[in-house]
Amino acid sequence: MIIQVDLEFWARDARKAVDRGDLVIVIDVLRSGTSILNALTNGAEAVIPEASLKQAYRLHVQHPEYLLAGERGGQKPAGFDLGNSPLEFTSKRVAGKSLVLTTTSGTAALIGSQRAKWVLVGTFLNADAAARRAEELAVKEGIGVSFVLAGEKGRFSLEDFLCAGAVADGFKPGSVRFHDKVRAALLAFKQAEGDLIRNVMAAEHSKHLATLGLRRDIDFSCQLNLLEIVPIYSHGRITLQSG
Ligand code: MLT
Repeated sequence: MIIQVDLEFWARDARKAVDRGDLVIVIDVLRSGTSILNALTNGAEAVIPEASLKQAYRLHVQHPEYLLAGERGGQKPAGFDLGNSPLEFTSKRVAGKSLVLTTTSGTAALIGSQRAKWVLVGTFLNADAAARRAEELAVKEGIGVSFVLAGEKGRFSLEDFLCAGAVADGFKPGSVRFHDKVRAALLAFKQAEGDLIRNVMAAEHSKHLATLGLRRDIDFSCQLNLLEIVPIYSHGRITLQSG
């Protein structure tokens, strides 16, 4: 089977990928996707995306044992336990805990994709592993694959586009047919790969994060293929299980 691979540039277009019946790989490199990867790597039980601060606070009232995490404008909201810096999600803070996560665009892309049969989280950290898992599941289900990029406040984001290219690079040659948007992402990634941090630093959102003193988050997020885990979003929770 040849897998068709498509791409949506913004969270608001997640519905298009879902309507195609595709497996979705959600990408928000800076920073929610990378934070989710690090939280689960460090032993968090689950990450529960919520669209708004209000919904996050409400869920926390029902489950005070959950940690509240996320950002608005890059900063930790009032009363939250954690911001959205991947480096905050240490095993000391998150092991054994469930986290409620709300961010500006990343959680919107996840929630917009949740009706898809399979929703995976892709980042630079797990690019090859995400490609392998997506390929295996798409073949098993006989469906296509779509990247859904979070973008930044409804705008195109370079770092997510480059990351889609990094994941595309992990598919077995001959097993996939890339839409031109995916081919462009792959070409961009191949061009950027040799100096990934410098190229990601050129992105608008990176510059914004750097002005907030969050440059280390960018360096951490740009590590390629460090992890083998592939988080799966199912029944409202992101975990390392498929159930
Ligand atoms: C988002 O979801 O918009 C991002 O993760 C923002 C951020 O860098 O915290």
